[in-house]
Amino acid sequence: MSTATKCPVNHGTVPVLDDDPFSPETLENPLPFQERLREAGPVVFLAKYNAYAIGRYEDLSAAVANWQDLSSGSGVGLNEPWRARGLLQMDPPEHDAPREVLQSILSSRVLRSMKDTCMETAGGLIKALLAGTAPGGQVEIDGHTGIGSKLPVNFFPEASGIDEEGRENLVPYADHIFNALGPDNGLVEQGKCKAAEYTEWATAKCQRDALKPEGFGADIWAAADRGDILHEQAPLLTRSLLSAGVDTTVYGISGMLYAFASNPEQWEALRKNPNLARVAFDESLRWESPVQQIFRKTTTDVTIGGSVIPAGSRVMLCFAAANRDPRRWENPDKFDLSRDPSGHLSFGMGIHQCVGQHAARLQAASLLEQLVPRIKSIELAAPIERHHNNTLRGWESVPLRLTLA
Ligand code: HEM
Repeated sequence: MSTATKCPVNHGTVPVLDDDPFSPETLENPLPFQERLREAGPVVFLAKYNAYAIGRYEDLSAAVANWQDLSSGSGVGLNEPWRARGLLQMDPPEHDAPREVLQSILSSRVLRSMKDTCMETAGGLIKALLAGTAPGGQVEIDGHTGIGSKLPVNFFPEASGIDEEGRENLVPYADHIFNALGPDNGLVEQGKCKAAEYTEWATAKCQRDALKPEGFGADIWAAADRGDILHEQAPLLTRSLLSAGVDTTVYGISGMLYAFASNPEQWEALRKNPNLARVAFDESLRWESPVQQIFRKTTTDVTIGGSVIPAGSRVMLCFAAANRDPRRWENPDKFDLSRDPSGHLSFGMGIHQCVGQHAARLQAASLLEQLVPRIKSIELAAPIERHHNNTLRGWESVPLRLTLA
């Protein structure tokens, strides 16, 4: 239950919610909280966490672009960061050079040149899953454990030049990092015992000698050799890719498969027009928002919708709420390939907008290209299971029944 009253520190102008966005109930189904957040006002005070929150599309787009007043430099979680700051937690001018380096290493041109490799990895995965099923036959697989969590854990570390040893650490490593952006609750507690071990593993993998001679990691070290960034920034930047690029894509792909399985007519629409593949991934990201929210800290008093957020406040930018804001999207709860989802906030916006989005898009597009000609229909074979994380909309299981073409 939540109540909206007025916040005393803002002279009564900011509505107060007593919701806990990180409770197990809200993590299981965040939509009711996100609706209350949007409807309470342009800015809301979350009493339990002494933090502010924004959920309406227009206000959030403006806030996320305003890096001067809503800073990432003190961390993008509810609390101060617990580990060395990566690209995500830098403000200009510190952010400029490493951002430029990553942007060119992960440009759409570079990622397009990796299409064949990604298609091959995706093709191998799908062929193995469908092996032994005749045309017209049915097969039951788990879209999360069998597909979503497989492709990024193989393709992406390979492209980054990370060897095979310990790749199973990637998802739990980032799981803890994303949990730690929320409050110090049971999810963080569970991850703590292994956090130091995972961090040591990831840091070791990002050293020059440990990386393969070709890959995003080696490209980052080459940029340091050219003087584009400092040498001490190279392992941290490489590590940013591992922490930001795997779980997000895993859940993005699992969410896309869930979107189709729970809206089978949209799969038919995609089969009729495979050119909708890019729209399909973006629309599923809008609908499911793998990164539910991220925080900023105000450097000065910030006025939003007539309400003042005092300097030094933590502010939750709830991308997931804005992605279903009826003020911006018609029939927002519908996963619908006939809409134009561009402008969704699942990759953020402004100077921190996801630098790895072309890598995520390439993987989703390759999977769809492999699935569309082979799969006539997708449906849910059993109830889905969520994986709770303080930042990500995670999955344990997306049971699918596929009918082959
Ligand atoms: C569907 C998959 C993905 C989603 C939903 C996603 C989401 C996001 C979001 C919301 C931000 C902005 C955070 C902010 O404003 O504070 C971001 C930034 C970032 N993402 Fe992604 N991401 C995805 C895939 C990737 C991949 C594959 C990589 C690596 C290749 C990556 C690397 C990064 C990095 C390094 C940043 C920080 C950029 C900066 O601060 O300038 N992401 N991502």
